Amino acid sequence: RRLRRAASISDLREIARRRTPRAVFDYTDGAAGDEVSAARSRRAFERVEFVPRVLRDVSVVDTSTRMLGKPVPIPLALGPTGFTRMMHHAGEPAVARAAGRFGLPYTLSTMGTTSLERLAAQAPSTRRWFQLYLWRDRDASADFVKRAIDCGYDTLMLTVDTPIGGARLRDARNGMTIPPALRLRTFVDGARHPHWWFNFLTTEPLEFASLKHFAGTPAELSNKIFDPSATIDDVRWLREAWPGKLVVKGVQTVEDAEACVAAGADALVVSNHGARQLDRSPTPLELLPGIAARCGERAEIYLDGGVRSGGDIAAAVALGARGVLIGRAYLYGLMAGGERGVDHALRLLTTEFTATMRLLGVTSVAELTGERVRMRGCPCC
Ligand code: FNR
Repeated sequence: RRLRRAASISDLREIARRRTPRAVFDYTDGAAGDEVSAARSRRAFERVEFVPRVLRDVSVVDTSTRMLGKPVPIPLALGPTGFTRMMHHAGEPAVARAAGRFGLPYTLSTMGTTSLERLAAQAPSTRRWFQLYLWRDRDASADFVKRAIDCGYDTLMLTVDTPIGGARLRDARNGMTIPPALRLRTFVDGARHPHWWFNFLTTEPLEFASLKHFAGTPAELSNKIFDPSATIDDVRWLREAWPGKLVVKGVQTVEDAEACVAAGADALVVSNHGARQLDRSPTPLELLPGIAARCGERAEIYLDGGVRSGGDIAAAVALGARGVLIGRAYLYGLMAGGERGVDHALRLLTTEFTATMRLLGVTSVAELTGERVRMRGCPCC
């Protein structure tokens, strides 16, 4: 009943916080360093002021658009998140099925806890994208590319903002490990979340998309996998190896955006990894207009980081994004109520986006232009 009454993504976050062990919630909710970038991403959305037109007959509005050649009902895709079966035992398949019900693409992460094959079998009608980290072992990357082709993923998303893992202080303080371990220190917290532990311990062990076995801290895992020697040549290599659409995620300057488009990217995600990598990295929403102006004709420009409402989606589109990705917004739904929780999150975002369009006086996504928004000045950031 609580789930049904959740009126916003932040209500879902509150339920999620109560229903999951602290280390798991903090791993999801947290960001790098002092979380300065995370706070700025949210503040940037708060600075957006809409410029609504009135008396525009908004009885019928078309919220749909196209992302990478296929229609989507709203300009939204579910971004890649690692270890999703840790947030809730139903994990990636539950999220992917919910995305499919809403006609939205779902991106499986290289750090996912469900294999490419299993996800394809469990969410066959969902439009599936696969996110790749370049591996120290290039044959492993090539193997992923082949598996993604074989199982019908139509888009490959290369994440480039992870030469090393970010410093997640909450994880260090919580003694977070993957898989989570019940220790004396965490026992009291564990006793408060018996359902989560019961489900976690009675479902199959986490199946890593990439490694046979792993146990350690998130940082140890990242540094085992991430390849700090990756360069723009690797984007060119992938362009050759991958026949479908290619997205580069984690671009944070106009120069890098240009280089990735020149190397063959069909789309870019202006992203700082949900502020989980470099603290004090640029704020995606502020970077977006410049990158869209320079590269928007040649590639689709997406944004992620801090999207928590349909109004945020409308703001990002008005500032130049073809669409947005979400991470935590759907994870809060998952942690709050499994597959139904993800449905609830996607329903909220869809309803809010539609209402925002109506209240703005626009009847199509193409009308969500820079004229419909302005940034309020903010002396504190
Ligand atoms: C992520 N993100 C991420 N990105 C990626 O390319 N591969 C990954 O495995 C992960 N893993 C991951 C786990 C968790 C728990 C979170 C919250 C995020 C980043 C993600 O794709 C996206 O960039 C951010 O989540 C966007 O910010 P919001 O929507 O969470 O604010």
